[in-house]
Amino acid sequence: MVTLKTRYAGLEVRSPIVVGSSDLTDSVQRIRELEEHGAGAVVLGSIFEEEIALEYESVMEGLHQQGRNLIDYDYYDYKIRAQNLDAVTDLIRDAKRAVSIPVIPSINCVYSHEWTLFAQELEKAGADALELNMFFLPSDANRTSQETEQLYFEVVRKVRREISIPISIKMSYYFSSLARMIQRLSETGIASMVLFNRFYSPDFDIDTLKVVTSDTLSSEEEFPIALRWVALMAGRVSCELCASTGIHDSQTMIKQLLAGAHAVQVVSALYRHGPAHIRKMLDELQAWMAAKGFRSIDEFRGKLSQAQSADPALYERVQFMKFFSHG
Ligand SMILES: Cc1cc2nc3c(=O)[nH]c(=O)nc-3n(C[C@H](O)[C@H](O)[C@H](O)COP(=O)(O)O)c2cc1C
Repeated sequence: MVTLKTRYAGLEVRSPIVVGSSDLTDSVQRIRELEEHGAGAVVLGSIFEEEIALEYESVMEGLHQQGRNLIDYDYYDYKIRAQNLDAVTDLIRDAKRAVSIPVIPSINCVYSHEWTLFAQELEKAGADALELNMFFLPSDANRTSQETEQLYFEVVRKVRREISIPISIKMSYYFSSLARMIQRLSETGIASMVLFNRFYSPDFDIDTLKVVTSDTLSSEEEFPIALRWVALMAGRVSCELCASTGIHDSQTMIKQLLAGAHAVQVVSALYRHGPAHIRKMLDELQAWMAAKGFRSIDEFRGKLSQAQSADPALYERVQFMKFFSHG
């Protein structure tokens, strides 16, 4: 018998496919459908602190222009937050009644003092774990790398103090010493790390000379960055690893598990092919495992990680020397 059981965010999950944070998980009906097709867990769309702060500022500005006394500050502050949070906490409560797979909310915060309030509310609503969608674009030339890195540790420390459900960090690869950062973050008591998030990026329209959005969905050629880093870090971190970005089919999922991931997050492929694609990927994984004689994911997880490799240099090669040589 082949089992697909594995772990994500410190929880046992029945399959390695975690539906990543997005609109795919924005209703109980959609979450139920994802469960029916075999998802191991679902991550809800992020609550964006930035958005709440902007909303708040515009309300306050409006009130100020109307000549209102800003003594109402606390009331509006509370109300706006409550409206945003209510939608997510209601979804968690309803989803928990409807499905048995873990339901994991996500928060994206830009100012570290806001995280704790959100985290407590989500835990109270019944969240199985919490994903921290953490990213501070390192575009401020006056900020040192240590200052930016410090923010991540502060956030984790604060959230860990307030909640007892497991925490997962979904991060980017914009760090000058990425291996050290991943390793140190993994030692903060978090349960898992998602390598890596894929962000909105600007593009240019050369006809209208305007800034536009680049492709919202990933392509299947985007998986190698996560593959390299999962393979490099597996066995060298103190938490589970989950691979994300560009995982569109069972072959890529298998590669990430061989690299050392406990699970994978899938988003774009489900936007493209619908939730039934989860079942297809799992059936193909199961068939591959049966053909190779693996009865569980643990039996082959990390088999192609750098730590288990006889030729570790292969994972650190970055130049295409042979490809371009004419000899
Ligand atoms: C429409 C859409 C909405 C998303 N919303 C969020 C979000 O709220 N929070 C987050 O951390 N990631 C969000 N993401 C990123 C995905 O969770 C995922 O990390 C990214 O799409 C890469 O995975 P993929 O290649 O499987 O799509 C979103 C992606 C898409 C396409």
